[in-house]
Amino acid sequence: MSRTTPSPKEEAKETGFLDQTLRPNSWQEYIGQEAVKANLHILLTAAKERSHPPEHLLFYGPPGLGKTTLAHLIARETGAQVKATSGPAILKVGDLAAILTNLSAGDILFIDEIHRLNKAIEEVLYPAMESGTLDIIIGKGPSARTIQLDLPPFTLIAATTRIAMISAPLRSRFSGGVFKLEFYTDAEIAKIIERSAKLLGVDIEPGAVTEIAKRSRFTPRTANYHLKRCRDFAQINKTSLSSASVEKALALLGVDELGLTRADRDILTTMINKFGGGPVGLSTIAAALSEEQATIEEVYEPYLIQLGLLERTPRGRLATDKAYAHLGLKGSAKLL
Ligand code: ADE
Repeated sequence: MSRTTPSPKEEAKETGFLDQTLRPNSWQEYIGQEAVKANLHILLTAAKERSHPPEHLLFYGPPGLGKTTLAHLIARETGAQVKATSGPAILKVGDLAAILTNLSAGDILFIDEIHRLNKAIEEVLYPAMESGTLDIIIGKGPSARTIQLDLPPFTLIAATTRIAMISAPLRSRFSGGVFKLEFYTDAEIAKIIERSAKLLGVDIEPGAVTEIAKRSRFTPRTANYHLKRCRDFAQINKTSLSSASVEKALALLGVDELGLTRADRDILTTMINKFGGGPVGLSTIAAALSEEQATIEEVYEPYLIQLGLLERTPRGRLATDKAYAHLGLKGSAKLL
């Protein structure tokens, strides 16, 4: 797959510094996700009134929509410390045991990419979430014993891009709720860009805000990344941040009018040119592009589906008429 355009993963790495500067520090600053915010407000206020840590929460949705940001806002609201880790970082049962026993009363444990936690480790989480206990098995065979440790009261906040990979027993233990983060509207993204431009101290014309918003995959992380790149372009070319300079800067990055990157277009063109527009299996697309299935499914597809360029059908992925038209390719979508 072509690599001139940064993938959303690279974008996430690169925005490490920005995440700190641009991340909203209060609910008032957090734009969008109104339904989730309203529910969290009730849950947090009620927990505070009862002087109890909030119950365990799970956030899911495509990358860059603000799952980690919400966890930090909840911590701020409740005055709690966040201990952050991720599913792939917890390799052994002992790693999780160490994290849990190091928690202080009222802490928030944030586990990103929780769908990548292995089964044996997941099972240690069940009693910890349900009854605040850690069951440790000492020894092997007939002489093995279980000892039970009481953990301080804590709140687990977990995030995943793959809700379907969360087992029913784990899901049911998020007693505070399972919340889906939605894509943002163009108007919300525009507000986020205006706020970020102010924080970065750059002047931006209203037309430029609209042009960046249109190409930002309904995703704040992408919007902030594009804003930074457009600011660099304007600075180097000694121009203002106008719609014209934004169009040039983003075209140079390979981002088109719909916000598709080369990687997105490669997926659609491969489906159309090599597999007659589908239906074609995810594993076949992944093999043809030398890309991981999970990356295609979690990172690229949600936006292509949202735009109506790709459909997931029981027989495989299908490129839509809109995809043919957008890419200027002859032919039409298969009727299933
Ligand atoms: N930056 C990233 N996400 C944001 C959001 N939802 N609101 C405001 N600024 C943000």
